Amino acid sequence: MKFFIDTANLEQIKEAQDLGVLDGVTTNPSLMAKEGISGQENILNHYRAICDIVDGDVSAEVIATTYNEMIEEGEALAALNPKIVVKVPMIKDGVKAIKYFSSKGIKTNCTLVFSAGQALLAAKAGATYVSPFIGRLDDISVDGLALIEEIRLIYDNYAFETQILAASVRHSAHILGCAKLGADVMTGPLSAMLSLLKHPLTDSGLTQFLADYNKAAGK
Ligand code: E4P
Repeated sequence: MKFFIDTANLEQIKEAQDLGVLDGVTTNPSLMAKEGISGQENILNHYRAICDIVDGDVSAEVIATTYNEMIEEGEALAALNPKIVVKVPMIKDGVKAIKYFSSKGIKTNCTLVFSAGQALLAAKAGATYVSPFIGRLDDISVDGLALIEEIRLIYDNYAFETQILAASVRHSAHILGCAKLGADVMTGPLSAMLSLLKHPLTDSGLTQFLADYNKAAGK
């Protein structure tokens, strides 16, 4: 399973890249705003900066919601760097835009997906990635991981090539659930990735090993 980091924060992207387990980045307009990035030129420059750090796909979301505007905005984003994946919302014009981008060889990430039907449409349109938001489903007491399982079954039934990018991942249990269910990618914050490191027996074991080493060395 690929690990994407879900942030527009350059320091966190660098930290994840340095860890050696990062496969890509996802952003959205809220994450860009959180970093104080606004204005067309600043936004494009920020995507360029992200592409310079990471080895892998970088999702950049269109703001437009009509077909013609999405095409114009998406083509400008895709022209920035071959790593750019145009992130398009799951709306009617978005599905049409994904079909267009797919015919032009431009990678897409269909975002704001909350049902298996939406994921089926995204795959039919030729999306490179589909992003089911599992954390936001959990927030409304709907089982987000069950959606991953359903989409995996449907995509496998028809050998769709669209990759399941489990989004809105919040913690290590989400990551492990996605891995067990065969999600192709998960995207989450750095904290969720780092939480995989943690086990109290690792910490106490290491403390003991170092104490024994120092004792034997007479320190
Ligand atoms: C998907 O690509 C989104 O950027 C993201 O995963 C949303 O996560 P959130 O629900 O934590 O905002």
